[in-house]
Amino acid sequence: MADIGPQDVAPAALAPPDPHVVVLFGASGDLARRKLLPGLFHLDRAGHLPDCQIVGTSLEAMTDADFRRLARESCESFGRGRLEEEEWDRFERRLSWVDGAAGAAGLADAVAKAEADIGEPCLRLHYLSVPPAAAQAVIRTLGDAGLVERSRIIMEKPFGTDLASAKELNAMVHEVFDEEQVFRIDHFLGKEAALNILALRFANGLFEPIWSRNFIDHIQIDVPETLTVEGRGGFYDATGAFRDMVVTHLFQVMAFVAMEPPVELAPAAITVEKNKVFRSMKGIRPEDVVRGRYEGYRQESGVAPDSDAETFIALKCRIDNWRWSGVPFYLRTGKAMAEGARIISIAFREPPKSMFPDGSGVGKKGPDHLTFDLDESSRISLSYYGKRPGPGMLVDKLSMQFSLNEIENQGDTLEAYERLIRDAMGGDHTLFTTAEGIEELWNTAAPMLEDPPEAMIYERGSWGPKQVHDLIEPNRWRLPFQRRWRG
Ligand code: BG6
Repeated sequence: MADIGPQDVAPAALAPPDPHVVVLFGASGDLARRKLLPGLFHLDRAGHLPDCQIVGTSLEAMTDADFRRLARESCESFGRGRLEEEEWDRFERRLSWVDGAAGAAGLADAVAKAEADIGEPCLRLHYLSVPPAAAQAVIRTLGDAGLVERSRIIMEKPFGTDLASAKELNAMVHEVFDEEQVFRIDHFLGKEAALNILALRFANGLFEPIWSRNFIDHIQIDVPETLTVEGRGGFYDATGAFRDMVVTHLFQVMAFVAMEPPVELAPAAITVEKNKVFRSMKGIRPEDVVRGRYEGYRQESGVAPDSDAETFIALKCRIDNWRWSGVPFYLRTGKAMAEGARIISIAFREPPKSMFPDGSGVGKKGPDHLTFDLDESSRISLSYYGKRPGPGMLVDKLSMQFSLNEIENQGDTLEAYERLIRDAMGGDHTLFTTAEGIEELWNTAAPMLEDPPEAMIYERGSWGPKQVHDLIEPNRWRLPFQRRWRG
């Protein structure tokens, strides 16, 4: 059996992990129902789950049968494809329940029983799908239950709310678990499209030579959502858009875009380069931030009537190193916006001089762009000016596009949580965040968190407060797209 120490390499294709007991904390919660249970089921039926038992637990009192019913409903509602009875029967036998009220001793018994059912030495994966306030209690329970050996833990964000609380949380986690046992999950990095950023940059000779301030004018990472905070008011009000999305997902994706080529495709090497990006970031100045709150947010259930949480944020970030000095990175995300999208858009510098006649259309539709769509279809587009057929020299904006749907084995795609659970079982830290990286980001955020600009009210279904356009001047937000994706 492999030990749980650091893994040196991120293999191209993983061998099946060792047998595992997965302990799912918060197993009756929203994330478990929408993503984790359907994800584990999919991994099982796709043959990616090792010999495995799944122990669910939460503050709710339930029986094994209740948990199996909840899991089935989750897989039927949120899983992919039809649920085949034979596959379900096999998966269902893996599921058992222990009430949180049973405490450390009850949990230890439940895990011992699951291990006995597997019948051979196995590893443990503790998935903490619990609110931040509960994470520390769960970690203590794991320590008291003697469930630290042979174990890894997956922790959900937010990892603290500022530098001091992140340090405190990391120190507490390290009292019980070694850093190499800890997998801080950021599901954006498990998206096929995010990994394609690494493939595109480093598996080709074409892009990397132009991947710098010499050729790139600015970069946008734009993740508007149409969803409101419905049903999550309590969590969201204590978190806000910056902590929910930026300090986690958007900064992590930005690191993939901005990092130097790692010395090898291995977790430690990639982490070093990502952390260098975070260290090179200049502190976020309040004047480079637009905060917003959608109309009616304070009336949402679970939200304080005088809440100052933002549901929208846009910011200009600067990475002060040789590659990126002078290239602004514009980040935007928000709830209740006009469209849902997740794009990264790289705007290239325009030609130094145009030899084309006036009125030819050169430059009329903005600079050339390389655009990544972080959606499931993992689309990429390269837009450029090309000649319009016919007499004279008129140009139009054209694009070369790729979509995952064009690939034969697109069915092999793993959903982000599936991929990351599988990686954690194999001990692969490549797509997870370290304590150091998290603390660096809170440090960068400090000037803005200490003096946040006022949150401006924006209409639901809009693109955020109007100040968002001033922030990006003289450039413009790519979204909404002038032209649609093909296909
Ligand atoms: C979660 C945030 O981490 O990511 C949510 O808590 C957000 O607020 C979600 O809606 C977006 O993820 P995805 O994969 O649906 O774009």
